[in-house]
Amino acid sequence: MDIQYIKERIALNPFASSFHHFASIDSTNNKAKELAESGFPDCTVVIADSQTSGRGRMKRQWYSPKGEGIYISLILRPSLPSSKYYFFTMLPCISAVEAISECTGLKCGVKWPNDIFIAGKKTGGILTEASLKYDKIDFIICGIGINVNIEHFEGQFLHPPTSLFLETKEKTAIEALIASFINSFYNHYKLLLSKNGEDEVRSIYRTYSLCLGKKVRLIDGEKIIEGKAVDIDEQGYLLVKCQDENILKFSTGDLFILD
Ligand code: BTN
Repeated sequence: MDIQYIKERIALNPFASSFHHFASIDSTNNKAKELAESGFPDCTVVIADSQTSGRGRMKRQWYSPKGEGIYISLILRPSLPSSKYYFFTMLPCISAVEAISECTGLKCGVKWPNDIFIAGKKTGGILTEASLKYDKIDFIICGIGINVNIEHFEGQFLHPPTSLFLETKEKTAIEALIASFINSFYNHYKLLLSKNGEDEVRSIYRTYSLCLGKKVRLIDGEKIIEGKAVDIDEQGYLLVKCQDENILKFSTGDLFILD
């Protein structure tokens, strides 16, 4: 990976000063957590060419072949209450959508809460983990995986996978996509911390949301619910209107868009 190219492209943002690249690592989220626990600052980035134990939500694996995908984890230390944690799933989602669009022209969207979808298939995912102290955020790790130049997928997938290559039939420059993602993320992070920023971030996330107004099935542990996804509220909950007109709120779960 051409690290110099990435550093030049992100020179104007603080992620350039705490930038850690590994050829191979178990999981960039594990490494970022270790660095955060030993005091690394806000806006630290960990990148790998491949991961041997890439992790997804719900203890799933993340397919991480060498040089064919993006594997990034960001350390953030915002002075915010724990209740704002959900924004750190929104920020990487909207930044990934914008970076993919800038670098490939592809139109993709977000399947609540953390999946990047193109044409009904999953091309990226976000794994956000936090260390909370009382009701405050101590640090947050935002982990982002994007399937860039993968031609064949191995393993089992909850949602059919795709890659930017399979959608465009062209290879995308990994370094350009990483730089675009980090720049977009930093802009949205600043926006979040600015006046009225929370409303703006929520509104951008809603704009990129693929499920709103659609019939959905949500699997949350033992519960399976079907209804219409009507909104994402002020606390980041997905609101689903069931057939009996009741509106149920979800903070997590596996969502399937039915129409
Ligand atoms: C999901 O879709 O369930 C989330 C996938 C998140 C994968 C990324 S790759 C970089 C970072 N390191 C990990 O081990 N996981 C995240």
